Amino acid sequence: MTSSLSDLLMKALLLSCIALLAFSDAAVAPPTGITRHYKFDIQMANATRLCHTKSIVTVNGQFPGPKIVAREGDRVVVKI
Ligand SMILES: *[C@@H]1O[C@H](CO)[C@@H](O)[C@H](O)[C@H]1NC(C)=O
Repeated sequence: MTSSLSDLLMKALLLSCIALLAFSDAAVAPPTGITRHYKFDIQMANATRLCHTKSIVTVNGQFPGPKIVAREGDRVVVKI
């Protein structure tokens, strides 16, 4: 009898832990969202336009940088 009671207590504790994890995760990103990963390689480059050279910030060798696509609820991780 006492072992089944402790079993029940363990299960209840486990369930409450899982519920807490699900809740805290939902606060950061809804369950429907996905995580999108981007890697940005930042470099300075000299650009010459109309006989005038200036230093510009490029992302992955591009200016302007790449487009970030995300939908509502998504999590975007950008590694720079
Ligand atoms: C840009 O031009 C300057 C002056 O010519 C030079 O010192 C610098 O190294 C150049 N930077 C790059 C990223 O090429």
